[in-house]
Parts: sequence; C-alpha cells; structure tokens
Amino acid sequence: MSLRVAVADDAAALSVLHNASFREGWTRDDFTTWLARSEAICLVAEQAGEVVAFGLALASGSDAELLTIASVPALRGQGFGRRIMQGLQEEAASRGLDRWILEVARTNLPALGLYKSEGFVEIGVRKDYYPGEAGRVDALVMARSVAPAGGQGRA
Ligand SMILES: CC(C)(COP(=O)(O)OP(=O)(O)OC[C@H]1O[C@@H](n2cnc3c(N)ncnc32)[C@H](O)[C@@H]1OP(=O)(O)O)[C@@H](O)C(=O)NCCC(=O)NCCS
Repeated sequence: MSLRVAVADDAAALSVLHNASFREGWTRDDFTTWLARSEAICLVAEQAGEVVAFGLALASGSDAELLTIASVPALRGQGFGRRIMQGLQEEAASRGLDRWILEVARTNLPALGLYKSEGFVEIGVRKDYYPGEAGRVDALVMARSVAPAGGQGRA
C-alpha cells in the first residue's frame, strides 16, 4: 500500500468511493473544487494501482477539520483508514496546525472506533444532526491535538 497527496485527476475515483460510502455522495466536480483549494489536505491510499481509501481535511485557522474519510467497502478492516488518518496527521503537523476536529454520527461505530483509537475525544454533541434510516442521528464533535511533526502522533 502506498500513500500520496491527491491530485486533480483523482476526483472521479474519489467521487466513486465517496458515493459507495455515504448516502449523499459528492460528485466529481465537488472533488475537483475541493482539490483545487490550498487549504485542502487530501491523501489517497493505493494498492495495485487502485485507490483503496482516502481522507480529506481542511485547514481552517489553526484547526485541521476532517471533512470525510472512506475505505473501499470490500477492503475495510485492513488498516487503510488508520493509515490515512496517520498520514493526514503528519500533513497537519507539517502545516503547523494545532487541533484536529471532526463530526461523526453517534451510530457510526467503525468510524468512532478509528477516531477513539487515534486519540480523539468527544467535546460536544450536535443533536439530530444527520438524517438516518431510523430517524435523525446525533453528531458527536470530537477533537485531539495535532502532535508536532516527528512526535508520537497521538494526543
Ligand atoms: C471508518 C472507515 C474509514 C474505517 O476504515 P478502515 O479501513 O476499515 O479502518 P482500519 O481497518 O484502518 O481500522 C482502524 C480502526 O477502526 C476501528 N474499526 C474499523 N472497523 C470497525 C468496525 N467494523 N467496528 C468497530 N471498529 C472498527 C478499529 O478501532 C480499527 O482498529 P483495529 O483494527 O486496530 O481494531 C471505514 O469504515 C469507512 O469507509 N466507513 C464508511 C465511511 C465513513 O463512515 N467514514 C467516516 C465518516 S465520519
């Protein structure tokens, strides 16, 4: 598996993976717009020449905000999500950002497991934030510090 910074040509593949992972998937044009922004931090993991996971964060002031992360459904549980999180962490540190922040559905147990094991802690709740099949679902707001480049990487 290799990790690299996403480029404009990745927009179509990222849209396919996003649509396979979320109810309201983003279009290729959405990703083209995100990838053109200098505040965007987007990494892709590849295996055998195929994108197997990606993550997109936004530098906002001194925060790094995780906007989205996904692994190919058939390849989940193989460490790709964690590798993306750790790569984003290194990128955020190299940009001198201070704090990670993200939102996650209370019911999204795989994502919660990943974030908690990467040192994120809950700092707030946005009640009924996401639409869900069984009614609206709370968003947990989670944060951790951005460790200095070359540090241990965990808050
Ligand atoms: C969340 C997601 C990106 C994790 O990617 P992944 O490649 O499966 O993650 P990894 O294999 O690196 O697993 C990392 C950790 O996540 C947690 N995790 C992964 N799958 C899990 C599951 N089914 N249940 C509970 N925890 C899980 C574990 O803590 C795991 O660490 P471990 O293997 O040491 O136990 C993936 O499930 C996904 O794409 N989900 C759909 C999109 C999504 O919901 N994104 C997050 C939006 S907030």
